[in-house]
Amino acid sequence: MVTASAPGKVYLFGEHAVVYGEPAVPCAIDLRARVTAEERSDDRLVVHARDLKLDGFTVEYGEGSPDVDAEDALVRAAVGYVDESVAQVRDAAGRPGAGLEITVESDVPLGAGLGSSAAVSVAAIEAGTRALGTELDREEVADRAYRVEHAVQDGQASRSDTFCSTMGGAVRVEGDDTRRLDAPDLPFVVGYDGGAGDTGELVAKVRALREDYGFAADTVAAIGDLVREGERALAEGDVEELGRLMNFNHGLLSAVGVSSRSLDGMVWAARGAGAHGAKLTGAGGGGCIVALDPTDATERALSLTPQCERAFRAELDAEGVRVE
Ligand code: MEV
Repeated sequence: MVTASAPGKVYLFGEHAVVYGEPAVPCAIDLRARVTAEERSDDRLVVHARDLKLDGFTVEYGEGSPDVDAEDALVRAAVGYVDESVAQVRDAAGRPGAGLEITVESDVPLGAGLGSSAAVSVAAIEAGTRALGTELDREEVADRAYRVEHAVQDGQASRSDTFCSTMGGAVRVEGDDTRRLDAPDLPFVVGYDGGAGDTGELVAKVRALREDYGFAADTVAAIGDLVREGERALAEGDVEELGRLMNFNHGLLSAVGVSSRSLDGMVWAARGAGAHGAKLTGAGGGGCIVALDPTDATERALSLTPQCERAFRAELDAEGVRVE
């Protein structure tokens, strides 16, 4: 039996635009998904999932797609990520018919912009391959987890979430060019509205806007320019400039239709409390915002904001995937 964990993440800059080859800078945070994998003596796959911000559930299946007895689209999506991860595990281990018992536990809420699917996929690939007697290097774990997201999100995924979750720390992703960045400790505060967005749908929405309007394509390109500026501010440890650019990034994401009332409400609450800056993080539509504030004011203001279900401080997590 092997347990591996991988961190969730927040986007300092660049979500959505990264899907079109612009750079992005996600940062791993100290919330983890843990996956335990054990080889079975038969060829079946059994998945237990707990703490996914949903009631726990168990699915058991052999050949073909999982038979999930759940209305919730999020549960179906979560199982989709596990299912594709197991396909990658079997392929990497050269054991197409291997049976596995998988247990997923996660501190990262599903679909909330904190990289839950990447964290689960990365941890599942690490634990699953080791349970079948194979060890992959981190580049291969990241690449296989990317292929999981690519398959589940109908070919609309960047390497950003999965590379960040595998490597930990702050990273830079531009197309296939992926690297770690030096970053100071950043005073992240997260506000969570208790909701979620459908990454596939939101990415498809931005893609359609980009195709219909030249100015939407320009907006996506402007996010790329902003990220390049943000990288300089990050290298200089200029937290005030990072905050200003995060505010701008939120405005550009709103312009392409991926913010929501609750995300905007939390962003404005954070700014009103004196945060250096605040923006939605991840695909949007609902879920989380991230703000920069070294004081307690933003966390306090968010916890009093009606749209915010939970506010918490997050630390940059330098460690990516690990065996527990
Ligand atoms: C989702 O966490 C980030 C997006 O940029 C999609 C992706 O990069 O695959 C919206």
